[in-house]
Amino acid sequence: MRIYCEKDYNAMSRRAAAVIAAQVVSKPECVLGLATGSTPIGAYQQLVEWYKQGDLSFAGVRSVNLDEYVGLAPTHDQSYRWFMQHNLFDHVDIKPENTNVPSGLAADAAAECARYEDVVKALGYADLQLLGLGRNGHIGFNEPCDNFPVATHLVDLTQSTIEANARFFASADDVPKQALTMGIGTIMHARSILVVASGADKADAVRKTVQGPVTPDVPASILQLHPNVTIIGDEAALSGLR
Ligand code: F6R
Repeated sequence: MRIYCEKDYNAMSRRAAAVIAAQVVSKPECVLGLATGSTPIGAYQQLVEWYKQGDLSFAGVRSVNLDEYVGLAPTHDQSYRWFMQHNLFDHVDIKPENTNVPSGLAADAAAECARYEDVVKALGYADLQLLGLGRNGHIGFNEPCDNFPVATHLVDLTQSTIEANARFFASADDVPKQALTMGIGTIMHARSILVVASGADKADAVRKTVQGPVTPDVPASILQLHPNVTIIGDEAALSGLR
């Protein structure tokens, strides 16, 4: 694992954007695995800026997102499809048909999971997978449990994740209770992985990810077994590391 400590959120975002941009420049038709949540927003803003300056093109990029809430339409402003359109896709030259997010409205969730896993597999998995980190060590919506889920699957969100995400909804009752997420296996197929973490409330999760035992109780701890992981955090997020 390579770990970069940046002084604050903006510096973290800029370095994360540089890693993503380097991937796009070195392989313009690459497959980017993308994440939502608060942490990557600054990196996406920086990528949009470099695109607008003419320094970066996403014309050949294919993207696969980690996850989507069950029951939210792509037009719902808390859906992860909407998030991606709003924070990145609508502002760069990525082709809409080259962007993939699981469908939260599929009548048959199991069939949608199988379809999505096939899409990611057919693309050859991600060249670079961007990940945020849940406070409980989740990646995608792979919550702490007693095994590492292999493929894209339906999950029941934990109370801690529902509460953490309630800030984006009118109340915790409005947060969807289920999501579709890439599995740990899907994520581990990526050829390189970039984890971004910001703030003191992530310090414990970062410490367990990097220095704790590899256990499905801390899903991100499996990244210790991946040969090409970069973690970029701000000082607060990395403050728990020895
Ligand atoms: C988002 C995702 C989640 C988030 C995680 C951290 O697509 O899969 O695992 O990355 O919940 O979220 P933030 O960045 O909001 O703290």
